[in-house]
Amino acid sequence: MASVVEACDSFTPFEFDTTLKVAADSSSVKSVPSKFNFSNDRSALTCDSLPTIDFSALVGGNPHQRSKAVHGLATACREWGFFILVNHGVAESLMEALFRAMKEFFSLPESEKKQYEAKSASDPIKCGNFNVVDTSNRSFTLWRDYLRLYVHPNFHCPHQPQLLRDVVLEYTQIIRKLARKLIEAICEALELNQSYVDETLNMDSSFQIIATNYYPRCPQPNEAIGIPPHTDVGLFTLLIHNGVAGLQIEHGGKWFNVDSPQNSILVIVGDQLEIFTNGSCKSVKHRAVVNEERERISIVVANGPSGEAVVGPAATLVEKDGGAKYNAMKYEEYVESQFTNTRVDGKSLLEQQMIFNAKVIK
Ligand code: OGA
Ligand code: NI
Repeated sequence: MASVVEACDSFTPFEFDTTLKVAADSSSVKSVPSKFNFSNDRSALTCDSLPTIDFSALVGGNPHQRSKAVHGLATACREWGFFILVNHGVAESLMEALFRAMKEFFSLPESEKKQYEAKSASDPIKCGNFNVVDTSNRSFTLWRDYLRLYVHPNFHCPHQPQLLRDVVLEYTQIIRKLARKLIEAICEALELNQSYVDETLNMDSSFQIIATNYYPRCPQPNEAIGIPPHTDVGLFTLLIHNGVAGLQIEHGGKWFNVDSPQNSILVIVGDQLEIFTNGSCKSVKHRAVVNEERERISIVVANGPSGEAVVGPAATLVEKDGGAKYNAMKYEEYVESQFTNTRVDGKSLLEQQMIFNAKVIK
């Protein structure tokens, strides 16, 4: 039986346990051990017209193409909170090297990985499993091992395997530049002054986090979940995976599978972008489901404003909309409180920030 959470104060989401790997690696295990038990209907629809943005048009010199791409980006962020980025220019060989290094990390002896066991929400390196609480106050463990690193403005990374540090550094630098271009484009679409944006979000000190999710094969994929429905904290999350499907996004009250072309990057709008744009961009609800056939690895980079930035709706948008729809909060605090907000179906952090009685004149 999954444990019942008696006093929430004593509940810790962090766990470091070999059970998941052992359970998953052993072919004799035919059912999900009870600590991972979470009933979920992972059925989802297929959509062959998910928004796709051509990055080369966004940064290229052709003003007509750029303006079309900026418009497409703004529409995708408003209507889906999600898009597939193609022609992004990130070398496939770098992504492959990153997957190789991350796989090596997860194959290290447990004793080696244990030194990175997460103990508190603010640890810059966290490794292990994660517990959440369901609606009947039962805690269960996610069917996923993870490694989460704070990489900017201060760079943190395990020393083993040797290749890891260099590839993480190179990849996250490139992604940071890419994310910044996306932010500039969305702000252009919303007619926000670029210097105002740079100053308010302080993007030079962008708080950037890379997380690798390792989802082993699961004997009963409807009885466990990789990551339950949630929204991401930052401005834009950029996600790549090992070619195994598993990401689902919510749109119009329905779940959709995300099937993406090889070498594309999946971009998820996060809470800070919804807040900053006063609700114009939608922080999309998404989840990761598991499967029986193949292990899945996703590498996710959360690109935020500076940790010091107090993010609320941009002043000109508040004026235009006739009121602020969200409270402001320091980003660093937002990130850390997300770790203590571990209830499935509970009120999300974003919902807690919403101002429901805002007098919005539209
Ligand atoms: C996440 C996430 C989805 C995936 O790490 O926040 O939503 O496909 N991951 O792994
Ligand atoms: Ni996510």
